[in-house]
Amino acid sequence: MSTTATTHHQLTIRSTVTLTNGVEMPLFGLGCYEVPVDDVKNVLISALDCGYISIDTASVYKNEEAIGIVLRELFSTGALKREDLFITTKASSSEQGYDKAMEACANSLKRLGLDYVDLYLVHWPGVAGNQPTDPLNSTTRAETWRAFETLYEQKKCRSIGVSNYTIAHLEELFKQCKVRPMVNQVEFHPFLYNKELMDFCQSNGVALEAYASLVRTKQDSLQDKVLVEIATKLQKTPAQVLLRWAIQKNVIVIPKSVKTERIQENANIFGFVVPDEDMTTLDNLNCNRRVCWDPYTIL
Ligand SMILES: NC(=O)c1ccc[n+]([C@@H]2O[C@H](COP(=O)([O-])OP(=O)(O)OC[C@H]3O[C@@H](n4cnc5c(N)ncnc54)[C@H](OP(=O)(O)O)[C@@H]3O)[C@@H](O)[C@H]2O)c1
Repeated sequence: MSTTATTHHQLTIRSTVTLTNGVEMPLFGLGCYEVPVDDVKNVLISALDCGYISIDTASVYKNEEAIGIVLRELFSTGALKREDLFITTKASSSEQGYDKAMEACANSLKRLGLDYVDLYLVHWPGVAGNQPTDPLNSTTRAETWRAFETLYEQKKCRSIGVSNYTIAHLEELFKQCKVRPMVNQVEFHPFLYNKELMDFCQSNGVALEAYASLVRTKQDSLQDKVLVEIATKLQKTPAQVLLRWAIQKNVIVIPKSVKTERIQENANIFGFVVPDEDMTTLDNLNCNRRVCWDPYTIL
């Protein structure tokens, strides 16, 4: 796994991470959690205008259909070609198991109006309706993965991966699978800097993708004194420094915003470098601040 650019200075909005199957996944994309259906068109147009080429959604975000409508419009006018975009969606915890995952992918493709997605993720290691410690989580997600392997073979997904998997979940999957996951999408930012998981993924050919890179702006994270000092020195915003910190670690980012000016701000991270000493200072902000769900509870 490597970026197409050789040094941090050369990273662009089109830089990619080469997945183990050779698919080029953009290092930068747009998150679509809590993008209301009515905002989807403006958000996508703003993002595409700024050069975003990757879109992250999920069946549970309930906006696949709205995204599909915009994409179809853009494809039909010739403004964009399908192969210009990298589209990710996910099978939810209630879509786990072989048959359900097969059906879930078909439903997502139908809603998106696509023949294939670029990346299909198991959204969560747990299965809806089961207690976190229920052994059925483990057996059912193994069945889900079998479906993902079939979908990959059938070319419904150009690549397949997981989300919210811990090292233990990944080690279990490595023992069972024919095709290893190409991506693991997890909560990842300086306040939750899980270096062990990053190193494990990156040394096992699993690209690490960060979500909540902006800590969802929770707990005054964007006002953190150390972060603000570094941002001020670099003449960037705290949000830009957080995103840049991740991509300099070869970690994929997908910031979400419904506001055009923030969509632009978040994309404007390719003309500067966070120096090594500031990278280390940011690494040291780690305090296990988790703002989304905790997968370590799931056996
Ligand atoms: N796999 C999973 O379990 C999982 C979990 C969570 C998220 N995700 C994915 O990852 C994406 C990103 O994560 P996220 O949406 O949870 O959190 P995030 O990107 O860390 O933060 C989004 C929040 O930050 C605000 N924001 C965006 N840009 C900003 C800026 N430049 N300055 C100040 N505030 C800014 C947004 O508000 P406005 O919209 O009002 O600008 C929104 O409230 C999601 O959209 C989703 O695609 C996946």
